[in-house]
Amino acid sequence: MDLLKEIILKEASIMTSDVLKLDAVLNHQVDPVLIMEMGREFARRYAEASITKVITVESSGIPIAFATALTLGVPLIFARRKKTLIADPDAFSERVPSFTKGIVTDIMVSRQFLTPADKVLFIDDIIANGDAARGLIKIIERSGAELVGLGIVVEKSFQAGGRTIREQGIRVESLVKIASLDNGQITFE
Ligand code: G4P
Ligand code: NA
Ligand code: NA
Repeated sequence: MDLLKEIILKEASIMTSDVLKLDAVLNHQVDPVLIMEMGREFARRYAEASITKVITVESSGIPIAFATALTLGVPLIFARRKKTLIADPDAFSERVPSFTKGIVTDIMVSRQFLTPADKVLFIDDIIANGDAARGLIKIIERSGAELVGLGIVVEKSFQAGGRTIREQGIRVESLVKIASLDNGQITFE
């Protein structure tokens, strides 16, 4: 999406050599018109896949996942970040480390929302090392649902997340790929 590249060049700022601040585009403010366009693009790429549910992890993936689910005409599930130590027997949960926050969190999805009858499209805003994504992929696998693929807005391809997930044989579609943030410059692939 060339428009998205233009907006990233205009609105994003480089925080460190591996972190891009995207508050004005994805993480704090969103443009509903642009988000709907992203949702339609993911829906188009997965149009033949008979998706039954779109899934994401709260919070920044939710607008894009919503736009995708609306276009496909299916429900949206957002995995919750758990704030309790009490194990819930009615939920699938996974512990994931966070690259930017330097902490570990637990994500969970209630068993009632994922079944072996589901064909799931996983949407997220940014992929870095892929730890959060791998956590949700494990949850989808444990539920017996079929993971059809991922749709990612910004893949930082100098980090291993997208590549390692593709190496698992999972389809990953990214709207833009960033090859480097070196020398104070955003370089697209
Ligand atoms: P990973 O799974 O791909 O390894 O990413 P990781 O868990 O390390 O990322 C943790 C959080 O940091 C995620 O947000 C992810 O979107 C975000 N993140 C990773 N790299 C960048 C970056 O270069 N720029 C920005 N702006 N964010 C980045 P989250 O914890 O899921 O929070 P939320 O935004 O969904 O609330
Ligand atoms: Na994020
Ligand atoms: Na996210």
